[in-house]
Amino acid sequence: MMIIRSGKNSFAAMPGEKKINIAIDGYSACGKSTLARGLADALGYLYIDSGAMYRAVTWYFIEKGTDIGDPAGIRAELDRIDVRLERRGNELITLLNGRDVSEEIRRMDVSEKVSEISTLPELRAKLVRLQRAMAEKGGVVMDGRDIGTVVMPGADIKIFMTADFEVRVQRRMAELKGKGIEATFEEVAENLRHRDHIDSSRKVSPLKKAEDAVLFNNSELTRGQQLTWARNWAGVRLTM
Ligand code: DC
Repeated sequence: MMIIRSGKNSFAAMPGEKKINIAIDGYSACGKSTLARGLADALGYLYIDSGAMYRAVTWYFIEKGTDIGDPAGIRAELDRIDVRLERRGNELITLLNGRDVSEEIRRMDVSEKVSEISTLPELRAKLVRLQRAMAEKGGVVMDGRDIGTVVMPGADIKIFMTADFEVRVQRRMAELKGKGIEATFEEVAENLRHRDHIDSSRKVSPLKKAEDAVLFNNSELTRGQQLTWARNWAGVRLTM
């Protein structure tokens, strides 16, 4: 792999160089998307929020009134669903059949149902196909639950993020508040517990650390410190 180092323990892909892929996995509300977006911006790469794709599909079924516990009903609709991520300026927009659903997919009712829908193998196969196509040419930072294990097992850099539970709840509450959504500590805590359980115990591509991923607990780090750590780690990892 041809990577030009821009300094000790940091790196930059140069024009004409093969761009690498970076996989970031971990529990809900660990700060994966903030770090992934920051890294992508710093490197001029594309950020792909795979969770937004699962959320968009969940939103679709909630709007349609489909019984989430009815896999046959969901399977029957899958071919009618088109999910895309598009960059508009600095924003990553989530499109479901052409409609911008970036705000709707953050609602609590979507958060409550998304893990259950995400256990469906046929849905996973469809979204994994789309995610792999986006990463084909390299130059991607993708975050999710199965990115380092299933979507991009060959990713050049894999990070598995975790943070103390209380920190995660506080961070998610702050994020929701920023979007004008009020939720109590207990509501958010219950949602995270519920999703941790389903995401880690499902049969198809459960959340787990890839063997070659580095474990990163960011409970006590600011966003800036996390980004510095990740850039340094990328530099170290690429020389191994
Ligand atoms: O990253 P997030 O919290 O927005 O993801 C929402 C849900 O989507 C998560 O609880 C499980 C599912 N998901 C998944 O199963 N696989 C992924 N690669 C990303 C998300």
